Amino acid sequence: MNIPTREQALELFRKYNKSESLLKHALSVEAVMRYMARKSGEDEEKWGVIGLIHDLDYEMYPEQHCKMTEKILKENNWPEEYIRAVLSHGWGLASDVEPVSLLEKTIYAMDELTGLVATSALVRPTRSVLDMEVRSVKKKWNDRKFAAGVNREVIEKGAEMLGVKLDDLINDCIMGMREVAEEIGLKGSV
Ligand SMILES: [Fe+2]
Ligand SMILES: [Fe+2]
Repeated sequence: MNIPTREQALELFRKYNKSESLLKHALSVEAVMRYMARKSGEDEEKWGVIGLIHDLDYEMYPEQHCKMTEKILKENNWPEEYIRAVLSHGWGLASDVEPVSLLEKTIYAMDELTGLVATSALVRPTRSVLDMEVRSVKKKWNDRKFAAGVNREVIEKGAEMLGVKLDDLINDCIMGMREVAEEIGLKGSV
């Protein structure tokens, strides 16, 4: 079985997703996964590709989230390791694949957090992630009406699994997203 390239992953993602916001989310998670892979000396391409493809089925099959992704990736002969990691991001909500590896725990912890970081950046005066700090996200943590769709419990559970402090996880997420600030529409006026 061939290792999927970033180009193949992006092509497949675009085939199933036309929404700009889902693409930005995919690029955000990809960037954070790449940042985290580099930080821990892991395979950056693999981590990035898994981040990019993780919500493949969300636009067309939101009710069958993860299940359809599994089917499509199998049809496309993706390696089992990649499919497992993708499914683990939805553990407890959309899949029963518990995150075990560092890669899996990382995508589980970071997926929802990218949403909170993005929404928190957009209410800042600069509308940018480039000059944003952890406290901007922390301020919104307990305001459950803010970015109400973001599941804080999943993020906390993810940080716990990784054995890292929430503040450090948020910082890493911001750092990763900064690398694609322009592409994800969070460069703002900085
Ligand atoms: Fe998802
Ligand atoms: Fe996601």
